[in-house]
Amino acid sequence: MTGSSRTVPGVEGGPVVLGVESSCDETAAAVVRGLRVCSNVVASQIEIHAQFGGVVPELASRHHLLAVGQCIERALGQAGVQATELDAIAVTEGPGLVGALLVGVSAGQGLAAALERPCYGIHHLEGHIVSAVLGDDTQASVELEPHLALLVSGGHTELVHVTGLGRYEILGMTRDDAVGEAYDKVAKRLGLGYPGGPVIDRLAAEGRGDAITLPRAMIDKGLDFSFSGLKTAVMVHLERHGEPSSREMLCDLCASFQAAVVEVLVAKVGRARRQSGVDAVHVVGGVAANRGLRAALEHDAARSGYRLVACPLRYCGDNAAMIAGAAALRMRAGAAPGSHVDASVELDDPRLRL
Ligand code: KG4
Ligand code: ZN
Repeated sequence: MTGSSRTVPGVEGGPVVLGVESSCDETAAAVVRGLRVCSNVVASQIEIHAQFGGVVPELASRHHLLAVGQCIERALGQAGVQATELDAIAVTEGPGLVGALLVGVSAGQGLAAALERPCYGIHHLEGHIVSAVLGDDTQASVELEPHLALLVSGGHTELVHVTGLGRYEILGMTRDDAVGEAYDKVAKRLGLGYPGGPVIDRLAAEGRGDAITLPRAMIDKGLDFSFSGLKTAVMVHLERHGEPSSREMLCDLCASFQAAVVEVLVAKVGRARRQSGVDAVHVVGGVAANRGLRAALEHDAARSGYRLVACPLRYCGDNAAMIAGAAALRMRAGAAPGSHVDASVELDDPRLRL
């Protein structure tokens, strides 16, 4: 379990919200005051699922149940906040694994009922969108500017035109594998363990991105993505040429794979930006931690003249601060509380509209 703490003085800065996130393989709890993060506790289940090469839903639910109470206690303790001082509870209501979501939603609803506080159900991807504007100090943003969000994670690859909180137009999405999923599958094939993103990212930094020619699927076509052909191309390369026989060859393969991913993502951001006319791009989600992607977007932003907001590294992966922050924004906008489980809710569902 990891955690960061900061005791918040004073009463300004928005509602004090406890967030609970349990949509996949991270049990997380956090306390925010507005968009200022007071504590952010994440209990990762990576070690449990790593031996299976991916997330096992049944095991995920069981471990959420074991960890959720302790995460909440730690989040309150590290924030220096009593449960009775909370203004609201926020839970991830979807999308995600239904059994996993049920644990967090039940815990949040139970606590909210005991404390007689409202419970807000938050869309997981709205949480990721809000993650880019979370802060640890009084400089934290107070609202969500209109922007283009590149949302890249293990389960999602989406380009979203955000015109305000709850106003999301999905411009493009993956037609097959999510980008993080492609990283995880390639890493599994190479025997690099789970999750694959961070390790491929590290090895790619030592390799040559032009060493192996790999496809840039749909790069000149529309705003949707396809990563399954790229993954297959890596498999075919390995069948033809055999396993990498040196660290150098492994690094070259990882760098070539990453170069293909990054080139497609940057190209689609450019097209979506021109189409939507926005001058700010936010990159969020687990894959937003990727060093190659961050560097390429920074370069592109400087060259093309747009403002890039790269999610702070500690909020890229799944966490509860983003869920609590989204609820704080919703409360400020006068949204009605209410939470349930919806494992496959879309980001542009009319119910998210304010
Ligand atoms: O947002 P997240 O924690 O969970 C989902 O909502 O899916 O994203 C997890 C994904 C995994 O596929 C993981 O391999 C990927 O993010 N990831 C990365 C990096 N760090 C995590 N992918 C590429 N480069 C990274 N540095
Ligand atoms: Zn996520």
